[in-house]
Amino acid sequence: MADTLTITDNRTGKQYDVPIAEGTIRAMDLRQIKASPDDFGLMTYDPAFQNTASCRSSITFIDGDKGILEYRGYPIDQLAEHSTYLETAALILNGELPNTAELDAWSREITLHTMLHENIKKFMEGFQYDAHPMGIFLSTVGALSTIYPDAKDITNAETRRLQISRLIAKVPSIAAYAFRHSIGRPYVYPDNDLSFTGNFLNMLFKMTELKYRPHPVLERALDVLFILHADHEQNCSTSAMRSIGSSQADPYASLAGAAAALYGPLHGGANEAVLHMLKEIGSVANVPAFIARVKGGDGRLMGFGHRVYKSYDPRARIIKQTADLVFDVTGRNPLTDIALELERIALEDEYFVSRKLYPNVDFYSGLIYQAMGFPLDMFPVLFAIPRTAGWLAQWDEMLRDADQKIARPRQIYIGAARRDYVPRATRG
Ligand code: SDX
Repeated sequence: MADTLTITDNRTGKQYDVPIAEGTIRAMDLRQIKASPDDFGLMTYDPAFQNTASCRSSITFIDGDKGILEYRGYPIDQLAEHSTYLETAALILNGELPNTAELDAWSREITLHTMLHENIKKFMEGFQYDAHPMGIFLSTVGALSTIYPDAKDITNAETRRLQISRLIAKVPSIAAYAFRHSIGRPYVYPDNDLSFTGNFLNMLFKMTELKYRPHPVLERALDVLFILHADHEQNCSTSAMRSIGSSQADPYASLAGAAAALYGPLHGGANEAVLHMLKEIGSVANVPAFIARVKGGDGRLMGFGHRVYKSYDPRARIIKQTADLVFDVTGRNPLTDIALELERIALEDEYFVSRKLYPNVDFYSGLIYQAMGFPLDMFPVLFAIPRTAGWLAQWDEMLRDADQKIARPRQIYIGAARRDYVPRATRG
């Protein structure tokens, strides 16, 4: 049997053999199917790209039915147990786990790029004290494109590598500055003696002590959360990164757009929305009434459901385990009981089971962030920091992919037919 699809166009009786490769057919192969010689040819109609592969990628593999997530072939649970965020970022970017010398050099490279141009302080002062940190984050990332004009040379691999290092190193500094701005505290400079995540905690929480010492359990827990959030194939924000980058915009402008997509409550803003939901429910006793409202179509169970996972998000399982380690240090987040009851009921309820709605990465992460002292509006920023590695790896892969060109989908036009201009005096 040949790897082809034979299509019969019943409008003309013609048959077409279309090659099947890697589980797909090329949409452009449908354009030959015409009802008449001047016909444009067939397109596919796929709103939200629910059944469309936009690229071929070797970075992340997900099997949504089996709850499998692998970065460059390595299972996420093994990376969460044995790796660090910086090592995982190197894996995602380069395709292989670094050896000791490579990891030391990579860590040093990142450490030396954590400082922000002093003008960023003035830029941040323009935001109101209660500006949402994600608005500050995406604006500041975009503003960095004005500080590094060399980043426009996106065809130069060395230049791309330099921008990748700058962005991975600077997004925690931007996030920390946004947090300190929102609580009226002075900015904290990086401490090169600390790990990537330890320094992030330093820039967030250092007060008058001479040397900030991160709590090792919290430092490790946050690093694991960063590993879990580092990439997730063609999600909404990564698709935005690829689409913007396909116009050859610089990586700062592209990443600002990706962060903007992540900000939405259906995507990276869900971790913040989950905590608002748990606070709105208020007690375990109120969970059944809330579930009933959701089933009646009034709102969604935030932190549940996924376009790809139709089983338990493997990241949610690891985050749930990590929460217990954090709570041993910080004290248990009282909202946890409400979350556990929501999960217990939802996993038994036909409404959620029939729709294959399970906890996703955002359902438990916010409980940890809140217990660690982060305000709710910092949660999407905590997602954006590690996803920066994935966005940049996908951007770099797109630029090196000979199949890719500027992204420009088609449409089905359903508007008015051609009509002549009507003088204002004669309009009804
Ligand atoms: C992330 O893509 C990624 O990989 C994203 C991400 C990543 O790492 O990049 O994994 C991170 O964004 C995780 C998702 C975080 N978002 C949320 O938790 C928000 C709540 N979840 C949803 O809104 C929803 O589940 C989505 C957006 C995640 C997925 O939506 P889909 O695939 O478009 O599904 P849908 O909206 O078409 O829903 C299918 C059905 C509908 O019911 P019916 O119309 O068939 O009656 O399921 C229902 C929906 O109403 N449904 C929900 C629900 N999610 C879907 N009902 C209640 N609560 C929910 N959470």
